[in-house]
Order: sequence, then structure tokens, then C-alpha cells
Amino acid sequence: MCGIVAVTGYRKALPLLIDGLQKLEYRGYDSAGIAVINEDNNLICDKSEGKLKNLINKVSNKDISGYVGIGHTRWATHGKPIVKNAHPHLDSLGSIAVVQNGIIENFQELKSKLEKEGVDFKSDTDTEVIPHLIQKELNNLSKLNLENNGSTLLIAVRNVISDLEGAYALAVIWSGAPDSLVVARRQAPLIIGLGEGEFVCASDTPAIANFTKTILPMEDEEIGLLTPLGIELYDSENERQYRNPVSLKSSEQVVDKKNFRHYMHKEIYDQPEIAKNWVKKYLSKIDSNQYKINYAFDTNFLEGIERIQILACGTSRHASMVGSYLLEQFSGIPTNVFYASEFRYSPPPLLPNTLTIGVSQSGETADTLAALNMEIKRRKLTNKLELQPNLIAITNRLDSSMGRLVPNIIDISAGIEIGVAATKTFFGQLLSFYGLAIKFAQLRNSKSADEINNLILDLINLPPQLEELVSSHNKISEKLAHDFSDIKDVIFLGRGINYPIALEGALKLKEISYIHAAGYPAGEMKHGPIALLEKKVPVISIATPGKVFEKVISNAQEAKARDSYLIGIAPKCKGIEIFDFLLPLPAIDEWLSPLVAVIPLQLLSYHIAAHKGLDVDQPRNLAKSVTVE
Ligand code: M6R
Repeated sequence: MCGIVAVTGYRKALPLLIDGLQKLEYRGYDSAGIAVINEDNNLICDKSEGKLKNLINKVSNKDISGYVGIGHTRWATHGKPIVKNAHPHLDSLGSIAVVQNGIIENFQELKSKLEKEGVDFKSDTDTEVIPHLIQKELNNLSKLNLENNGSTLLIAVRNVISDLEGAYALAVIWSGAPDSLVVARRQAPLIIGLGEGEFVCASDTPAIANFTKTILPMEDEEIGLLTPLGIELYDSENERQYRNPVSLKSSEQVVDKKNFRHYMHKEIYDQPEIAKNWVKKYLSKIDSNQYKINYAFDTNFLEGIERIQILACGTSRHASMVGSYLLEQFSGIPTNVFYASEFRYSPPPLLPNTLTIGVSQSGETADTLAALNMEIKRRKLTNKLELQPNLIAITNRLDSSMGRLVPNIIDISAGIEIGVAATKTFFGQLLSFYGLAIKFAQLRNSKSADEINNLILDLINLPPQLEELVSSHNKISEKLAHDFSDIKDVIFLGRGINYPIALEGALKLKEISYIHAAGYPAGEMKHGPIALLEKKVPVISIATPGKVFEKVISNAQEAKARDSYLIGIAPKCKGIEIFDFLLPLPAIDEWLSPLVAVIPLQLLSYHIAAHKGLDVDQPRNLAKSVTVE
């Protein structure tokens, strides 16, 4: 979502802010802005609509000196993505600047009150109330003869945030305290990076990784004063907090695009390597034909687990649905997948010996974090042992809020993903679920040793097949994409283990090409969606040999009878003659089929969007991590 970066220290602030914002731009890109206190103690603020490069062009010829500053990339919530709504927002004297991530739920009430007092608002945002309220507080504090310094700013900000409702992460500077930076958070991430004689504070670690590897993640409801001399951190009770910094767990480096035009394309090509690394990291041979799954945490608690609930959003939820299929059908353990946003307000009754799995590539998705937190709290409130929280998180970001919240982490290890449409992290999440399904199958003897070993061997043999698949499908999809120039609707069908892949195929297409697409279980089409079918509505059907192959083919027949152009994702085998166009898969066991079936779908979406000349990596209205509810 929005990105915050803030610095104070001995180096000029502007280049550090721009560098940090460049690392965060993938999170939000509607508009961007910076504010710096210059050497004459004046606050300088610049903002631009659109991509960060517009801001860079604007400030690059200006001599903005000064050693304390804040920057922001925005993903609009309140007010259109135009300059007046870009952050930072200022008070009416132009002496205080604020950047904020989150949503101030009671801003309307606060705004009306301020307007009655004569404050003239310049933007439509919720954030703008904050600098005006800080100004009011500073006026009140000046009557108490408090000096103009960082401590006074800290008191003013603390008084203001006690009146704010909602979730926020914010950074504030004031020309009255030219070396000070005040930062605060509630349910939105902020991390302080510790340099020598300088500090950076950011909403996500990539903005810090170039600066320092030593970080202090702020806890919920904390507020901090940062000056070149040090940090003062306080909790919501105004108790000073002392704790040791920690090291960044992963490199968090944003890699370059190599020779690819878009990150998304590169990330699709990364997947065979991710499979190779997964095999190395998570599988080890214990004797001639026995393997074990390696986790970085003690797995004894899994033995007593009787059911699983998975909390996730978007693509992570689709991976979780494949996971749920594997955990139920391969490992024999009842599993439910919830939209995290729904679970928060209508959780199921507490059941004993339940494992809760949070799944999030970013580890920062507000709905998933809130659902997990709620589940942990309500389980801890009971004193019954069998109701206590058992937790696992599957994430690509060890240094994220989810990484810190949950003790048992399955690291997706896919490397940082920049394309807003998730591809390689989805693939890594699938692999994580294969590992978990094998682990549970071994614990519960739900399958014979041979069946488990066959799945393991298939996973070991997968990477070269994936390499071949990615490169051959790249060419096929590039060609096929031309046929989608005038298409407005696409239907994706799948069944069983590949139903979630149909959902994911539809989501990818929607996200980056803006073509309407919907995924259905193939057997469900005749119960309504079939009304949509006609010549101009292509149907993409995933048909992999196994339990439901013939059924999927019959469902495809129903579409063909309605004149739909039929695209099959299937191996070359009997039955596929029905398809008008084939995206061929290698002959692979049904259990493994989602790992191969998703690749043509990713590539097809990519090429359709690229062919239309769209901004594939930063599609409209989306953000890489959704940190608001
Ligand atoms: O970071 P998360 O995996 O928790 O994100 C969840 C969704 O916001 C995310 O998967 C979203 O659907 C992506 N844009 C998918 O491409």
C-alpha cells in the first residue's frame, strides 16, 4: 500500500528519501511527495501526481539541502490520486509535515471541528487533519512555555494520536525542531533502521536494506522521537521502552529486471529455480527411500492437530485452497480456508486442536494480520489447553509483521516479488503446502510410504520440466495473446485440485489486463454462468488426467455447444480434440498438476496485458501489500 520513508542524521535527506521511495514504489504509485527541513530551518515540500519519476524530475534540479525529511508513495484511499491529495500534508503555517499510511476512521468528525475553528483544508484526505491537530497542540504547549524541540513535538503528536481512530503509521517533522523526527504506529507497520549517527524509519524493510542491516521494528501503539543523537521510544502508557535492535533476516534487496521488460515476466521465469531451491531447503533424504520435510521450528505440536483453518486473501487464498485440497485429500485432515476479511467478523466457533495457518506473501496484509490476531486472542482467553492457538505462517517476508507475530514460519523463499500481480510467491506458497501435506501424511499415515515417496520424487523431478514449460509457453502465449485484443469476458474452468487454479487464472487476467474474467468449478457452470457463453466469450478449461478429467471434458462440451472458443490446458492425450486451442502440459501426476497448470495461465495473462501496452508491474488501483482494511 502506501510507502513511508523518513530520515534524520548527518547526510543530506533528499537522496536518502528518494532512494527509499524507489524501493517502496512497488507498494503504491498514485502520487509521491517529500518534505525536508532545510538548513535555514524552513520546511520545503514537493509532490507529484503519478509515478515516482515525476517527483524525481521535479526535485532533481532543486537545491533542497537539509538533514531531516519524510517521503511517501501513495495508494489512494481518501481523495483522488492528484497532487493536492499526495503526502506530505502540512499545517496552515507550513511548518509541520506529516506522511501517513492507514485510515483515520474519525477524520470527518475531526475535520468538521477544525473547519468550525477556521482551518482551511487543502486536500480531501483523512491525513490532513493530523498536521492541523499537531499545530493546535503545539500552540497549546507553547502557552506552557515549552521549548521548541523534538520532545515538545513528541508530546504534541502523542496528544493528537490519542484522538485518532483507525489504523495508521505516521512520520512527522516540524521546522521548530529541525533535527527531529516523530514516528508512531497503530496496526500498520513501521521499522526503524539504525545507522551511525543517523536513523531511517520506513514502512517496509527494502527501504532500509541499503542503509543498515540493524533494525528496530516498532511495536503496536508505540511512538518514537528520532534525532541524530538517538531514539526515544514510548508505549501507549507513555512508558519509555528499551530493547535491543535485531538484524534484518533476509537480504530484502530489490533485484533488477535482468533483460526482461517487466518484473512479472522475470518472476514467472524465476519459478523453476524456486522449485529447485525448495527441494534443497525443505527435503532431505533420511535413508535409501525415505525423505523428511525440514522446518526451522519444532514440529511436535503438529501431532495433536485434528483440523486446520487457513486465513488469507487474494492469490494467497487461492494457494491456500490448493493447500486445503492436499491437506484433506492427501493427508486426511479436515481443512477450511477463509477469506481473512470475512473471518474477522464471523469466525467459526472455537474447535479444539485446531491449527491456524496465515498465508501472505507480504506478511503485511491488514485483513490477514487482524484475523490472525483475533484468533490468537480469542483462543488465549479460554483456559482450555485444547483450544490454545497453534500457529503457522506461510510468508515470503521473514521481517514482516506476520513474520514477527507467528512463531512458526514456513519461509516461501521466493526472493522479493516486485510485480504487483503475485506469480512466483503463489508458486512458492503452493510448494509450502505440498511440504505441509507430506508432513501431515507422514504423521497420520494417511497414505502409504510409496504414495508419499512418489509425490516427493515427482517434486524433486519437477524443476527441469518447469524450465521447459516456461520457455515453450512463453512463445505460445505471446502468439495467442493477439486473439484477445477485443475480448471483454473470459471464463476459467477447473475441478478438484485445479479449481483454485481456474480462480487464480481469472484473477491474474483481471488484475493486469482489465479484462473481466471469472473462474468456476467446471461442474457449476451449467447452474448459471453458462448464460454468459457466446462466440466472444472464450472458455479456458484446465483438464488434467485424474479423478475428474472426463467430467471436465464433458463440461467443456457444454461450452462448445454454446459457440465458445475453447482453450484447453491439458497434456496431449485422448479427449483433448474438443479444444480449439491447446496449451499443452507435460504428462504429470494429478497431485502435482496445479504447479504446472498455473504457468500457462500466468504467461497468457502477462502477454495479453503486455500486448495491450499496459503497465503490467503496476496495474491501476492495485498495491503490492494491502495494509488497510
Ligand atoms: O501479501 P498477501 O499475499 O497477503 O496479499 C494478498 C492479496 O492482496 C494479493 O494476493 C493480491 O490478490 C495480489 N494482487 C494478487 O496478485
